[in-house]
Amino acid sequence: MSTLTEVAHTLVSNGRGILAADESIGTMSSRLESVGVEPTEENRRVYRELIVTTPKLSDSVSGIILADETLRQNLSNGQTFPEALADIGVLAGIKVDTGAKPLAGAPNEKVTEGLDGLRERVGEYRRLGATFAKWRAVFTIGAGLPTNRAVRANVHALARYAGLCQEGGLVPIVEPEVLMDGGHSLAQCQQVTRAVLRSLFDELALMRVDFDSMILKPNMVVAGKDSSEQPAVAEVAQATVDALRDTVPPTVPGVAFLSGGQSPEVATNHLGAMQNLDQLPWELTYSFGRALVGPALDTWRGNHGKWDAAQKALSERAVANAAARAESKG
Ligand code: 13P
Repeated sequence: MSTLTEVAHTLVSNGRGILAADESIGTMSSRLESVGVEPTEENRRVYRELIVTTPKLSDSVSGIILADETLRQNLSNGQTFPEALADIGVLAGIKVDTGAKPLAGAPNEKVTEGLDGLRERVGEYRRLGATFAKWRAVFTIGAGLPTNRAVRANVHALARYAGLCQEGGLVPIVEPEVLMDGGHSLAQCQQVTRAVLRSLFDELALMRVDFDSMILKPNMVVAGKDSSEQPAVAEVAQATVDALRDTVPPTVPGVAFLSGGQSPEVATNHLGAMQNLDQLPWELTYSFGRALVGPALDTWRGNHGKWDAAQKALSERAVANAAARAESKG
């Protein structure tokens, strides 16, 4: 049995990254509907089977984050998803939060829920084959936002989640996402990202979370998607690395970025540009959802005749991101 620290290192090393396929039933259903697929439990299962059976996925993917529903489903060959992943050398993860809900006293801001009963669920997920977990908090940039209230409520929940996971034997992926929505500048995103990460690591320390047995999954520092001033790739890379260097303890094994609505190519370019900056204490990798699986979903559209083409589309994104990582060692 690997220790939590070993699992954390496995997730972020050897040039590989993490694939996020843990969309909630609601989100996955809308993604399926957007490509003309009926949002049934079976179609969600088939789509996840397409992902995990993609040939050679384990060359570039170290772990796949699954949703609760998927963890309880089987592939057509009868294997559970964690069993199928174990066979190809990929770790199974589980999203354990139950979603972001409106925060009382903070209009337009949300707090992520899911702490009640989490200790018991962590035990169950371990028995079902998961070795790591994910919890996502969201922060909105706007006039007077994010508020201290929303930042503190969310980092508190993230830290309690991380502590419960480590106690129960799962490596926590801690995901504070500063959203791209809005017209804010790169500098504003950097300032908010720094403040959120600083507050997060204070809280993680308070809750006695072991930094060497967790993964940080932050946003990249980008301008808001409605901003007319979009920074160059090199500026995003530098702004992101500077924010991380100021806030992330060196004992954290890895930083695995979310894609957050960036196009697949742009997310990959940003990741590649960061590898060329100065020596960093942590591995920098990907934990993309949309930027990895978007093209595959768009190719598949529920058509069995497009199965192989869709897997090829996923494979291409995974290989491109692994190659972007390798730019560091060049
Ligand atoms: P995106 O890469 O699509 O932002 O998803 C990553 C994720 O896991 C969100 O929680």
